Amino acid sequence: MKLRYKIVSGLFGLLVLAVAALAIVIGYTAPCGPVPETASAAVQMKAVVYRCYGSPDVLALEDVARPKPGDNEVLVRVEAASVNPLDWHHMRGSPYFMRLSSGVGSPKDDRMGVDFAGVVAAVGEQVTEFKPGDEVFGGRSGAFAEYVLIPEHRAIAHKPAGVSFEQAASLPIAALTALQALRDKGDLQPGQKVLINGASGGVGTFAVQIAKSMGAEVHGVCSTRNVELVRSLGADRVWDYKKEDYTESDEVYDLIIDMVGNHSLSKNRSVMSAQGRLVIVGGPSGNWLGPMKRPVAALLSGPFVDQELIILLARLRKDDLTEVAGLVQSGAVRPVIDRRFALQDVKAAITYSEEGRARGKILIEF
Ligand SMILES: NC(=O)c1ccc[n+]([C@@H]2O[C@H](COP(=O)([O-])OP(=O)(O)OC[C@H]3O[C@@H](n4cnc5c(N)ncnc54)[C@H](OP(=O)(O)O)[C@@H]3O)[C@@H](O)[C@H]2O)c1
Repeated sequence: MKLRYKIVSGLFGLLVLAVAALAIVIGYTAPCGPVPETASAAVQMKAVVYRCYGSPDVLALEDVARPKPGDNEVLVRVEAASVNPLDWHHMRGSPYFMRLSSGVGSPKDDRMGVDFAGVVAAVGEQVTEFKPGDEVFGGRSGAFAEYVLIPEHRAIAHKPAGVSFEQAASLPIAALTALQALRDKGDLQPGQKVLINGASGGVGTFAVQIAKSMGAEVHGVCSTRNVELVRSLGADRVWDYKKEDYTESDEVYDLIIDMVGNHSLSKNRSVMSAQGRLVIVGGPSGNWLGPMKRPVAALLSGPFVDQELIILLARLRKDDLTEVAGLVQSGAVRPVIDRRFALQDVKAAITYSEEGRARGKILIEF
């Protein structure tokens, strides 16, 4: 064998070994650690905690020290929180590559939940935007607790009068994802035709309504039991995926927002205009490469097609919180609340979310 072939095959072997080692490391799940002792003098609160990755059984409602706000921080007494698929992705540490940021072996942050709404309980000395008693909402790790701490410059905004705590808590991840998919990645214009695949879920119920408020013609895809719901949100045409397949139709969409990922890129492209956009929001779950297949295919094929294949990673932005709350206040958007669970029943709420059958949002009540 020539020397250069030996070098190439040696390097390839090293690469395979490195990938295998990385897979073993990130796929490792450490056993649950012991419950740390809370200093008895500390003021306590109830919080949902998890110290290892796994099923909803790793979740526990515990007494933990109530945090105190630092100079730029706001302490919020939580009145309502909501569940998103992101919560159980964190709980399971799945797909495994997300453990590179959430913690290899076990979670770095042991608190659950992101979306919250509540009342400001205390603020740090340098906080100017909020004061105790203000009604607020936002997104911050640790929202499944009686109190949550958040820096004032992060994703926290005033809750408008006329928007309930429940409604406000339903907004952060789901409504911002819908808004950013339609406005930022989709560049949706009045009069354009948009398809929302997964129209009955947390993101989809907001996407249908926000797209209507932007002046679009909106088509939604859902199952038979949700057809009336999606129609009531303003969809001009509803595809019942149990009976029909939009990718087999003659429709021409300017934009497809895909929360489901159950059709190939080429099937979606076949019902898109020449300059149409496909925004990939969600897709199949899985520990390894399953969730990555479509985004990777979109990245690889994107440069060779006229249509735009776009991957969305939504961000919790203060301005967008204010914008979606304004849409609720004006009546343009009505959050759809599916089920409500008490804080001590978070396991059941997460189990329900993992089933993937939610109609709108799942709420945690305090
Ligand atoms: N990229 C990002 O930044 C980002 C942000 C937020 C969420 N996401 C992802 O987006 C996805 C949706 O999130 P979500 O909060 O809306 O989830 P969700 O509320 O759990 O979605 C559940 C809904 O999906 C519907 N559904 C299931 N299979 C379907 C199909 N084949 N066709 C049409 N609808 C179907 C279900 O309706 P039926 O029961 O009637 O089937 C149910 O109403 C998730 O994968 C989530 O991880 C991504």
